[in-house]
Amino acid sequence: MNNPEFRTMGQQFGRRSWAEPWKIKMVEPIKMTTLPERRKAVVDAGYNTFLLRSEDVYIDLLTDSGTSAMSDRQWAGMLLGDEAYAGSRNFYHLEEAVRKYYGYRHMVPTHQGRGAEHLLSRALIKPGHYIPGNMYFTTTRLHQELAGGTFVDVIIDEAHDPANLHPFKGNIDLDKLKSLIKRVGAANIPYVSLAGTVNMAGGQPVSMANLQALRELCNRYKIPIYLDATRMVENAFFIQEREKGYAGKSIAVILKEFCSYTDGAWMSAKKDHLVNIGGWLAVNDSELFDILRNMVVIYEGLHTYGGMAGRDMEALAIGITESVADDHVRSRVEQVRYLGSLLINWNIPIVQPVGGHAVFLDARSIYSHLSQDKFPAQTLAAELYLDSGIRGMERGIVSAGRDPESGGHRYPALELTRLAIPRRVYTQAHMDVVAESVKAVYDNREKTKGLKMVYEPKYLRFFQARFELIT
Ligand code: F0G
Repeated sequence: MNNPEFRTMGQQFGRRSWAEPWKIKMVEPIKMTTLPERRKAVVDAGYNTFLLRSEDVYIDLLTDSGTSAMSDRQWAGMLLGDEAYAGSRNFYHLEEAVRKYYGYRHMVPTHQGRGAEHLLSRALIKPGHYIPGNMYFTTTRLHQELAGGTFVDVIIDEAHDPANLHPFKGNIDLDKLKSLIKRVGAANIPYVSLAGTVNMAGGQPVSMANLQALRELCNRYKIPIYLDATRMVENAFFIQEREKGYAGKSIAVILKEFCSYTDGAWMSAKKDHLVNIGGWLAVNDSELFDILRNMVVIYEGLHTYGGMAGRDMEALAIGITESVADDHVRSRVEQVRYLGSLLINWNIPIVQPVGGHAVFLDARSIYSHLSQDKFPAQTLAAELYLDSGIRGMERGIVSAGRDPESGGHRYPALELTRLAIPRRVYTQAHMDVVAESVKAVYDNREKTKGLKMVYEPKYLRFFQARFELIT
């Protein structure tokens, strides 16, 4: 077949096609809105995609958090919920799954990731502490700050450059970490906050070699390493694909090896684990576990449910097993890459290499005529919604918030609009529609004048801030 119109996607990319390892059993209708309807909706939402009603959204790429489709097994598990206040059977299934695939000794359940971040930050951080990490995440850093700590970014410089093709842009720069230790002293560093993959850098992975070197350094100074395992399954996929010696190992084996170099992990199960709600915090240190198990009762719920219903824990335990299947992870990441490759072919600037959970549009470069305090990424998310009803999210100056000391905006190097892909939800045709809408907005980029912020909440302002068009 020589006509390019009739080539399959695999042929276009010079390889055999892959396909999702599932078929669709139930569908949820979505509706396309008109341009006047979207104009009204976006004004009502103060040009903030978090404030749109989901009914007014056509293809929802706001987040991959809690938006995945559960399998028939998970739904069946929901009916096996043991809703006892204490000692639910489903808790023990969850505990077993976390031990089996992540390898940590102790686990407390939490309602979602930030519940676990709250507990860990409160248990380990004292005022005046410094917490080094591979780029901030919004809720993670806020909990560290609320506990009295200061987050210090020690990710490699390549992570701040959207066009840099480093295969492990999530890596920690050990020299940056060493100079922090020298500056503040190891005793003032309660732990290293390591994320795999790094959400704000574009879903970029950390290599096994980098973690091994980090472990050695931390052993020397007796600093523990705690892992944000939220999208660690996707990180394991990139190690399998890119790191020498891992091509023949399964995602499950790589995941467990990675975790073995860390002292514990927190999890937003709403991502990798294919559930709509849930989280956990797991550690090896028995004394720390005692503290956490006591604290969870105050802030989340009893230590055998932590804010989840029994049925949620059952769906989660099953989701963990499904999440580490090689064919599942591959099709998930390849779908994200398919969208990315369409945009790259049209020379639209995005973060490269394409990461595990989302395509990140480089709003700074797309709207190079707008200064950062005209909120280019927020503007791009609003324009995309206006064009087609597709919803993405700002990951730039609005998300970065204000510096607690100076009170001024933080100006992050990355000014990105994220299109996060829910797992097992959308088809390749949806991705084509998304790509075409991004292209239409891109082609119109010079007409855009940016936004001004007219309402700003104190914490995590990106969720609720409101904007108006600059005219
Ligand atoms: N860590 C990372 C890397 C995350 O991406 C998130 C949430 C959390 C922790 C907090 O977990 O939402 O369950 O409380 N990220 C979502 C997102 C909100 O859209 O990226 P949570």
